Amino acid sequence: MTAILVGGTPGTGKSEVAAILAERLKIKVISLGDLSKKAGCIAEEDTERDTEIIDEDCLVDAIIDTLEGESDRVIIEGHYIDLVPYSSVERAFVLRTHPATLKERLTSRGYSKEKVAENVEAEVIGVCQMDAIESFGEPKVFEIDTTDLTPTETADKIVELMKPRARSPRYDWMELLENEGRLDKFLSD
Ligand SMILES: Nc1ncnc2c1ncn2[C@@H]1O[C@H](COP(=O)(O)OP(=O)(O)O)[C@@H](O)[C@H]1O
Ligand SMILES: [Mg+2]
Repeated sequence: MTAILVGGTPGTGKSEVAAILAERLKIKVISLGDLSKKAGCIAEEDTERDTEIIDEDCLVDAIIDTLEGESDRVIIEGHYIDLVPYSSVERAFVLRTHPATLKERLTSRGYSKEKVAENVEAEVIGVCQMDAIESFGEPKVFEIDTTDLTPTETADKIVELMKPRARSPRYDWMELLENEGRLDKFLSD
């Protein structure tokens, strides 16, 4: 079965947006975080960085098995969407959030200072959308800036971008922050 992917740095709103989108399209959401746990694909806990390390081969197999068992298209949300096999992917939506807003969201989630900094830096650089483009190519990857959108508005935007000739802009926080003279504040040394 085919999948609509929702990816992005932690805190950009993937889980919430995917749930709203699923309700709207009447299809199921597969969370890659849940799937990695269920399929036993968490290789080790990196306690120092307070993150889990995923066995990628294991997760790829679990994704393939799951998609084979589905009779309808699904939404796949998570941090590792680039692991979904290319031929199953309809479109990949990468949620983007201005680093200052992301920092607030992650801090209020109770993340440690280091974990906030690490994720904010990944968003500044644009790691998730670069990985998605590398895996699926420019035409399948759409970016949405969720900074000033509610999760419902973001889900609406995805529905709009599912249309055949839809286009979306690319975001470069690095350039934006550099022009604003505050890039240093968002990168660790
Ligand atoms: N567009 C948004 N605007 C404001 N807050 C949001 C938005 N999307 C998500 N949030 C909030 O940010 C936090 C992270 O959302 P979540 O869906 O858990 O993100 P992810 O799954 O990408 O880590 C939640 O507290 C959520 O309510
Ligand atoms: Mg989530």
